[in-house]
Amino acid sequence: MNIASPAFHANPHPFYRQLRDEAPVHRITLPDKRTLWLLTRYDDVATLLRDERFVKSPANVPRLPGEKPVKEPWMPAFIRPLTYNMLDQDGADHTRLRNLVHRVFTPKLIEQMRQDISQITQRLIDGALQSSRANGDTVDLLQQVALPLPVTVIAKILGVYADDYQKFARWAAAFVGNTNMTDMLLSIPSLWQLMRYLRNLIAERRANPRDDLIAALVQAQDNDDQLNDDEVLAMVVLLLTAGFETTVNLISSGVLALLQNPDQWAMLRDAVKGSAANRDGLLRSTVEELVRYTSPVSLATERYATTEITLHGVTIPRGAFVGGAIISANYDERRFAQPDVLNLMREDNRHLGFGNGVHYCLGAPLARLEVQIALAAIVEQMPNLRLAVPASQLRWRKSLIIRGLKALPVVNLA
Ligand code: HEM
Repeated sequence: MNIASPAFHANPHPFYRQLRDEAPVHRITLPDKRTLWLLTRYDDVATLLRDERFVKSPANVPRLPGEKPVKEPWMPAFIRPLTYNMLDQDGADHTRLRNLVHRVFTPKLIEQMRQDISQITQRLIDGALQSSRANGDTVDLLQQVALPLPVTVIAKILGVYADDYQKFARWAAAFVGNTNMTDMLLSIPSLWQLMRYLRNLIAERRANPRDDLIAALVQAQDNDDQLNDDEVLAMVVLLLTAGFETTVNLISSGVLALLQNPDQWAMLRDAVKGSAANRDGLLRSTVEELVRYTSPVSLATERYATTEITLHGVTIPRGAFVGGAIISANYDERRFAQPDVLNLMREDNRHLGFGNGVHYCLGAPLARLEVQIALAAIVEQMPNLRLAVPASQLRWRKSLIIRGLKALPVVNLA
């Protein structure tokens, strides 16, 4: 089974259900020939993500005497500083970076974005409504709304100049869907331009601080510790890459899930028109349920076993690459009642869609806010939206980690 293939992402559930029941620790060979030890039950994935016996960096796997260090994959020298990012670090290195960014990427900053997010969303929805009239009614909601929203929001938070949003979005879009060396090589020019742009912005903010996240990161201080320019750059690119495609996919797969469950769509649409308390409560639980149900990060990023570990009778060797199937954990019947049912009012919904433990998603409050605003606007202003093609014709992206559509063609019936 190629768990990175589009066909797999169209319906991964039967495969994962079988693994949860019959082989909760399952060894597979990936298309690039690496061996992956796949964990599929909720309890096991939750443990994997918070257990210190599993590390993010293969360099932190203890070596036996005489054992050679792990060879790092080749990459262009200008990209190397990006590898020193929080998501790839363990222990004190991770805590240090997370504490520094935590001081400035605060819930208050995110809440202050509410109005901007609403305005950006409105502009995108207006554009989609206009092109639905111009194009005989079929609109790609992913291209028109889901894709531009998160990148514009993060550009604004970072302090990218408004005149540069379009080129910034174009460079950032070059990372989306990169799964192999060819994609990587093709995206190098965009990445280079993006990094040059960000380096200039970092230098400008060091010289003249302003009220934006790049300036705040440059100045962030934890006791005597500060981030250097390479670290600020790595942090900014991580915020951009970790928060971009994931949010695009939550909006687009989320709208798809709602369209496939018309009773849930109608409930949300009615609540959005109703009292504020009702509306806000349902929007909050809707986003949680859609994170669980669509699981945009379907496989957690890599972990390595620091020691030999036996689980369900299977021994995972020291140094092994271990994968936590988040989407499988989120559909585990041992943890969730009727996991295949989309229930926007689901209670006790402690899904793993934003991860668990020290690497728990730093951007979850921002993602939640963006997606609440986007969904409310979509159901309110496109109340009679329908899929323009049968669901079986929708195409999914190829990716090991991320699960998302290539396009979401819809018609907006009057
Ligand atoms: C629907 C949207 C999102 C989903 C589903 C999501 C999911 C996740 C998951 C599962 C992890 C943990 C990965 C692991 O442990 O292997 C993670 C980490 C992270 N996310 Fe998100 N994310 C989303 C949006 C965002 C946004 C908007 C941002 C920032 C602007 C962001 C920034 C991060 C960062 C920085 C980390 C690494 C944290 C660390 O290493 O301590 N994410 N995210």
